[in-house]
Amino acid sequence: MSQSLSGRRVVLIIGGGIAAYKALDLIRRLRERGAAVRPILTKAAQEFVTPLAAAALAGQRAHTDLFDRADEAEIGHIRLAREAHAIVVAPATADLMARMAGGHAPDLASTVLLATTLPILIAPAMNVRMWQHPATQRNLATLTGDGVSVVGPNDGAMAEAEQGPGRMAEPYEIADALEAMLAARDGGSGIGFMAGRTPRGVLAGRSVLVTSGPTHEAIDPVRYLANRSSGRQGHAIAAAAAAAGARVTLISGPVSIPDPAGVSVVRIESAREMLAAVEAALPADIAVFAAAVGDWRPAETRGGKIKKDGSAVPPLTLVENPDILATISARTENRPGLIVGFAAETDDVLDNARRKLAKKGCDLLVANDVSHEGGVMGGAENTVHLLTRDGGLDTWPKLGKEEVGKRLVARFAELVSAVPKS
Ligand code: CTP
Repeated sequence: MSQSLSGRRVVLIIGGGIAAYKALDLIRRLRERGAAVRPILTKAAQEFVTPLAAAALAGQRAHTDLFDRADEAEIGHIRLAREAHAIVVAPATADLMARMAGGHAPDLASTVLLATTLPILIAPAMNVRMWQHPATQRNLATLTGDGVSVVGPNDGAMAEAEQGPGRMAEPYEIADALEAMLAARDGGSGIGFMAGRTPRGVLAGRSVLVTSGPTHEAIDPVRYLANRSSGRQGHAIAAAAAAAGARVTLISGPVSIPDPAGVSVVRIESAREMLAAVEAALPADIAVFAAAVGDWRPAETRGGKIKKDGSAVPPLTLVENPDILATISARTENRPGLIVGFAAETDDVLDNARRKLAKKGCDLLVANDVSHEGGVMGGAENTVHLLTRDGGLDTWPKLGKEEVGKRLVARFAELVSAVPKS
């Protein structure tokens, strides 16, 4: 087991719910990765697990309201949070999320959450209807807007014999998400992590526009031209930008993945609709063009279904679509301060990417190999190269698309910091 969290001090807030028993396993997982864990149990959590069990696994005292309120002078809630690098809330119940979003602090756990400037990761767990309730979704959007990171909930069978999103993420997923969050806060650029000085919401006050997914170019009412893009990379960037405090507009082609939390989503089908939606969403501080836009569309879209009537195969004549990235990059009015293009290449990735960066006129180009062997298109992982206009090149190791999204957002924040807000 790699000591990937070595030297990190984590406050683990355990909320009340049947998933609290998994929080005990999480303590073990975090310690296996080298982290020191200080548990805090809410009153409701103690209905499911005991402070003694949490303390035994953590190898240090577990805090509860009862004890610490009386003992404030010894361990103040401010000190509890200040001594750590991150706070993880697992399980994050609907009630705990509501308290966080509303800024309420009736107990030790929520007081620590209100008093901290540390990065926070929550792992929601609740009944599917509670999760889907507009109040919880509103609270979630508030929290992500405040810079809180979220992992899960997962889809699956729940304790009440129901099915749907609401199960807490698995302990290893929470540990992975914590690593990703800390790496993103480090900037992915070797900047050391400093306790208590983490830039929370590095894109707070910024507006970000992201295109994502494929386009569908209609042939007739039932047929279209498309590509294999899943939208995962673009959606992950939008989610990471929202988690970093930005106002995010995601312009998405037809995809089957869920909308990221805290993001305003505009759904389109064709390249021309995508261009119109992008123009309507300007001005923006940062524009990220991650969509796999169809280069061509049928010259004519038939109003009725083309029939197979035994005569000749119908010809398909194509015309070129507008290049959205190049169009926006060439603007003199309302040009976003940072424009990021993507390059999907199957051969000579870097040479083609360099040419594309010059041709499209963007500021940063993220290149990836989409040849079939790479499994990038539609897959969960990505190996990217970052190219800048002044000839800079950075190649990242193979990473999950969520992690790529977080690291990219940290990089965007650095690049855009010199640009005045739009
Ligand atoms: N792009 C765009 N509008 C298009 C085509 C592409 O905005 N009509 C954007 C993509 O979102 C991406 C970048 O341009 O950010 C490069 O896309 P890619 O498919 O790699 O390149 P193409 O311009 O399509 O060139 P080619 O197909 O020759 O590789």
